[in-house]
Amino acid sequence: MREQLARDFERFGRELPHDFADYVREAYRVDLTARYLGHVIPHPIGKGSGQLSLNLEQLETDRAAGVAFVVLKTAIAEDAAGGRAMGAWAIHETRMRVDRRRAASGREGWTVTWKGRGWDRPFDEYLALVRAAADLTRSGELVAVPSIKYHLPRLGEAFRKPEYQYTTERLAEAWGSDPLPTEKDFSPTLAGDSLAEERDQILRWLREVPEQVRGASHHRVRLALKLMNARFDDAFQLQMLRASVGADTLVVFNRLWDPAAGVAYGGHDLSDRNLRVLEAARQANLQLPPLSGTGNICSGRHIVDYARLGCESVQLHTFFQLPLSEYPATQGSRPQRALHALVFDPKDGLIAGMLDLEASGDLERMGGELRFLDLPGSADVLPQRHEEHEESAS
Ligand SMILES: Cc1cc2nc3c(=O)[nH]c(=O)nc-3n(C[C@H](O)[C@H](O)[C@H](O)COP(=O)(O)O)c2cc1C
Repeated sequence: MREQLARDFERFGRELPHDFADYVREAYRVDLTARYLGHVIPHPIGKGSGQLSLNLEQLETDRAAGVAFVVLKTAIAEDAAGGRAMGAWAIHETRMRVDRRRAASGREGWTVTWKGRGWDRPFDEYLALVRAAADLTRSGELVAVPSIKYHLPRLGEAFRKPEYQYTTERLAEAWGSDPLPTEKDFSPTLAGDSLAEERDQILRWLREVPEQVRGASHHRVRLALKLMNARFDDAFQLQMLRASVGADTLVVFNRLWDPAAGVAYGGHDLSDRNLRVLEAARQANLQLPPLSGTGNICSGRHIVDYARLGCESVQLHTFFQLPLSEYPATQGSRPQRALHALVFDPKDGLIAGMLDLEASGDLERMGGELRFLDLPGSADVLPQRHEEHEESAS
C-alpha cells in the first residue's frame, strides 16, 4: 500500500480524479466519509468562509476539484430598512498577503495578512450567491452554505430582533428548502473589539444566539457557531464550549488576534492553541455538538490531529492560497493541488496518517475498512490529565 501511495501521489500530481474518495475506498479500503452540519460528505476537507468563497467562479472551481464543502464569505445581518448594527464589519479591502510566520514553538508556518472583514456588497448579491449554493448542495456535488454575522448586544442590551428576522427569513427564502444551514461567525476582529472585553457578554452570546436565530424565522435552521479565540486563557475557551451546546455544530476555532499589529493571524500558534483546548475539552469529557476543525491545517497529519480530538470535518483557508510552488502537484487548480497534497502525500497525507495509526494499533479496520469517522475513538483519554484540566477550567 505504501508503494501504491507513492505511485498515486506521483500520477495524481498531474491530474487529481474528481471522485478521489471513491478511488481511495476501493484502492486502500479507507473510507473517508465525513460529516458537516448535518450533511454526509465523501471526505472531510472543506473550505472555510472568507475571500475564497465570494463568487460563483470560485464555487465552480471547488466543485470541479472535488472539495467536500464550502462556507460562503460572512455577510453582515441587516433589517428591512438596511440597518446593520454590525455595519463596521462590512469593510472593503482587497489586498491579501500570504506570509511566513514563526510560532512561539519556533515552527515556521503560513499566515494570511488582511485588514478586511465581512461581505461588502449589497445583501441582494449575497442572496443570489446563496441561491446558487443551495442548487449546488441539492445537486449533491458540493455542499455550500452561507455565513452571517448577526447583531451581538452588550450586557443588559437586547438583541436586535428585526435584523435576525429579516436576514434569516431572506436567507431561508433564497435557500428554498428546509432546513437552512448556516454558520454564525465570531471573528478574530470581534475578539479584538471592545465588545468582546467582558467574559459574561461573550458567554451570553453563545448561549442565546442559537435561540435568537431559530426563533427569527418560521423556517427550520441548522446552525453552526464558529467560535473565536477570545483574548482570555484556555480555561475560558472551555467555558465558551460549554456555553455553546445549543448549536448544531461548532467550528473550532477562528484565527488569533494580534492587538499590536491590529490583524488576525494563523500558523502553528493557532493550531497549537486549538488542539490544546480541544484536548482539554476531551479530557474534561465535555458533551459537545459535532465539531468541524479550522486553523493551520496544512497537511493530512493536521487533519488526523483535529479528527482524533472529535472533528468530523475540517475547514481550511490559508492552505488553499499558498504560492503554487509550495504544492507538490504540477498541474491543476489550487484546490486540486491542495487536496492532492492533503490526501495523497506519502509521508504527511491523510491516507498515510490513517495507515500509520493502523500500524501502531490505534485504529482498527471495521468490515475490512479504516474509517475517518472512527478517528475520534482512536485517541486515549488519560484520567490524570483530566483532573488537571478540570481544575484549571474551574
Ligand atoms: C483573508 C481571510 C478572510 C477570512 N474571512 C472570514 C470570514 O469572513 N468569515 C469567517 O467565518 N472566517 C473567515 N476567515 C477564517 C477562515 O475561514 C479560517 O477559519 C481561518 O483562517 C483558519 O483556517 P486557516 O488557518 O486554514 O486559514 C478568514 C480567513 C482569512 C485568512
